[in-house]
Amino acid sequence: MENDGGAKMEQDWADVQAFDRAHLWHPYASMVDPVSAWPVVSADGVRLELACGRKLIDGMSSWWAAIHGYNHPELNRAVTNQLGRMAHVMFGGLTHAPAVELARRLVALTPDSLEKVFLCDSGSVAVEVAIKMATQYWQARGRPDKRRLLALRGGYHGDTLAAMSACDPVTGMHHLFADTLPKQYFAPRPSCRFDDSWDPSDIAGFARLIEVHRDEIAAVILEPIAQGAGGMWFYHPEYLRQVRALCDTHNVLLIADEIATGFGRTGRMFACEHASIAPDILCLGKALTGGYLTLAATLSTTEVAETISRGGAGCFMHGPTFMANPLACAVAVASIDLLRDSDWQVRVQDMDRQMRVELAPCATLATVREVRVLGAIGVVEMHEPLDLHVWTPRFIEAGIWLRPFGRLVYMMPPYVMNSADLSILTGALRRVLSEAH
Ligand SMILES: Cc1ncc(COP(=O)(O)O)c(C=O)c1O
Repeated sequence: MENDGGAKMEQDWADVQAFDRAHLWHPYASMVDPVSAWPVVSADGVRLELACGRKLIDGMSSWWAAIHGYNHPELNRAVTNQLGRMAHVMFGGLTHAPAVELARRLVALTPDSLEKVFLCDSGSVAVEVAIKMATQYWQARGRPDKRRLLALRGGYHGDTLAAMSACDPVTGMHHLFADTLPKQYFAPRPSCRFDDSWDPSDIAGFARLIEVHRDEIAAVILEPIAQGAGGMWFYHPEYLRQVRALCDTHNVLLIADEIATGFGRTGRMFACEHASIAPDILCLGKALTGGYLTLAATLSTTEVAETISRGGAGCFMHGPTFMANPLACAVAVASIDLLRDSDWQVRVQDMDRQMRVELAPCATLATVREVRVLGAIGVVEMHEPLDLHVWTPRFIEAGIWLRPFGRLVYMMPPYVMNSADLSILTGALRRVLSEAH
């Protein structure tokens, strides 16, 4: 009987995979030559279980989000409790405790000046909201000509159109959407690294652009300290401090996109804290719900919010159907409380130290260009791009879940990963890279 059941399961999963391959888009995927999508049946702690029975140690936290690991009892309880009361209700004309409790925590956790909270669906939408806030702000101040953005090369801000327009022009493939995307200004990628001594010439390109175009620029948008999907690059806090000062000098708003870096990933609750600065607008997402449900937040200063509200439209022009979804807000509240009550700073520091030691030997391989680590982010940059068709099965065979892009193999494990599991993850990565060497 057991054998028959096993055979049926296998058959079912073969069907699932075949249907998936024929009909389902995956992120950045081809419908002609799709990379395999591996059926996963459950996830618990730091392990994903595949349909074939294999368990993988998760190095991705589901793209920065699952900081507490999977199937966490307290996060499960938060969703279940809320589900018994109300899964969703429109946010126009109504409010509810999960949204209020979440806003209360976000206002307390972020810099004092950020007091107004817009809850929305995803990171990309949070960036759209931030850009619309900046645009409406300058309209309300009688400066409709200030509507462009100044972004950094190597940046990534999401996949919707306005967000894409602020992504790195090359890796963001602007040429494909040349006539559709709004045109923005781009400063060179900061070259001075997080741990280097500060080189004052690093800010010169940015300083020139903001000075020359200050009358057209509504806002600077950047990922503070750690650029993520545009290159996994960690830059000097002084760069960020000077950006803040230049925004003030030239009357430009600063949007900090902390969708990836927020909630402790770089070793501080928010990466802006490395430079002791506060943005005018802050975008949060990903780890906001501990990776359980899609939710993001755009926070602004009172000045930005009130200026918009006194402008021509009399309100901020955005209001998604699923705004402040109660299930997502409830789990976000639980996730923030869990983080706040944990020793995450110590854990992230330990992971930083351990990854520095255990990933360092990768740098001796001829195929590897560089290894870099910041907080709970470990990056192995290769000389050549890695083909997912080839590398994903190798990682799975080694018992780990990593998803390289381009020349970058990177890990941002759940903070709850213990040092033995982290050693298995880094050891398997070292082995796979050196065997393929
Ligand atoms: C810095 C940053 N901004 C925005 C986004 C977009 O978020 P989402 O994928 O939730 O739309 C991402 C996603 O990777 C990100 O890393």
